Amino acid sequence: MAEAEIGVIGLGVMGANLALNIADNGYHVAVYNRTAARTDEFAASAGELSDRVTACATLEDFVAAIRPPRPVIIMVKAGEPVDQQIAALKPLLEANDIIIDAGNANFRDTMRRFTDLEGSGLTFIGMGVSGGEEGARRGPSIMVGGAEEAWRRVEPVLTAISAKYQGEPCAAWLGENGAGHFVKTIHNGIEYADMQMIAEVYGVMRDHLSLDAASIGSVFSAWSKGPLDSYLIDITAEVLKVQDAASGRPIVDIIVDAAGQKGTGRWSVIESQMMGVPATAIEAAVAARSLSAMREQRATAQGRFGIPAQQDRRDQQQIVDDLEKALLAGKVAAYAQGFAVMAAASQEFGWNLPMATIARIWRAGCIIRSTFLDEIATAFTQDPDVANLALTPAFSKIIEDTDQSLRRVVAEAALNGLPVPALASALGYFDTYRRERGTANLIQAQRDFFGAHGFARLDAEGEHHGPWGG
Ligand code: 6PG
Repeated sequence: MAEAEIGVIGLGVMGANLALNIADNGYHVAVYNRTAARTDEFAASAGELSDRVTACATLEDFVAAIRPPRPVIIMVKAGEPVDQQIAALKPLLEANDIIIDAGNANFRDTMRRFTDLEGSGLTFIGMGVSGGEEGARRGPSIMVGGAEEAWRRVEPVLTAISAKYQGEPCAAWLGENGAGHFVKTIHNGIEYADMQMIAEVYGVMRDHLSLDAASIGSVFSAWSKGPLDSYLIDITAEVLKVQDAASGRPIVDIIVDAAGQKGTGRWSVIESQMMGVPATAIEAAVAARSLSAMREQRATAQGRFGIPAQQDRRDQQQIVDDLEKALLAGKVAAYAQGFAVMAAASQEFGWNLPMATIARIWRAGCIIRSTFLDEIATAFTQDPDVANLALTPAFSKIIEDTDQSLRRVVAEAALNGLPVPALASALGYFDTYRRERGTANLIQAQRDFFGAHGFARLDAEGEHHGPWGG
């Protein structure tokens, strides 16, 4: 008998936890995994939730177990596996059934899947889910893209399983087709920038202040009680204090310094470049991950150039205080850039993305959750069409309060050869953005000189060319 109200395909870490979360919220869920052994393992681990879980050995059984119209969440590896899963499901589903891709899809693939499914009678939703394993189980942040009518049909279950910020669900419909996956991609781009800037200030404390991991962890713990209060600062404080049982050393000291990346950060940068919206902090973070992976070359370069001698340093507490403020300033740049990219995409793809809502559903459940996002939500509620977050009164004030610290940190890092590419990019961004008369007049002259590209004059209308020799 079809008693399940919803189905989940893919019982990896995220899918399994999402299914348990659904069952925990009183919904009956059917589950299916390509490897049947994993389905059995999952069923055995469901414990007291087993009554609300129907584990299915075949896709046919899975579809038959769900009451029509069927909402089916696919949580498999992004890319080709999603297309394969949709192709396998399509002949088994009926009109009005809803396929929900909850993976980290490239929104361009999501757009294509909407087009592919047009006329099939099936409904498609592209859904960004953030929060990792714990979020999937206890409440993630959920970013939905698709027809608003489709969202209305799944809203009760999605809001039930989502994280809550002071009772408000962190799940929302953000726009048509690829909107949800686009917003999730930018969430991840910001996540990269946030993580990179945290790693940069850790580097200054480790390599300039010579603090050990636990002491740096204590600095982060202290910061988590101030304006930087966030999940990423909390987990940073925690991991820095963990000892490795085998070596007795702080675990961070024996982890290889080469960061992985699955694509979302890179996609954020590609899309921002395509739209001509600078996202320099995200770009720097993605590049830093790529550089981190070049371990052999870095070792060779260190052998060739060495590391600059550390200069006399200022008082430790002054530096730590500056680092806290520099991190806050860098965060403002990263978020301002991420939201500006979303604003441009909203125009380009006709989504009408609700900026304040996006900030609201990021306040809990997701990886970048923080009190800072509550301030962003307020700023966008007060001025939904502001061109840049940095121009809102609240964030202008933060920039004024932190600007000097960011300058000192970037300058000190430069003089000591400490890499702070994301923080430096944030400073470069602010300094370029705040200067009315920039230097592109020279670039225009060069372009006109070698390619007759023309330029505008300050004192006359129209296009002009320079009186270049020859
Ligand atoms: C989240 C995370 C999650 C995952 C990303 C990060 O919001 O829950 O962003 O989606 O951690 O895949 O990917 P990288 O492997 O590229 O860091």
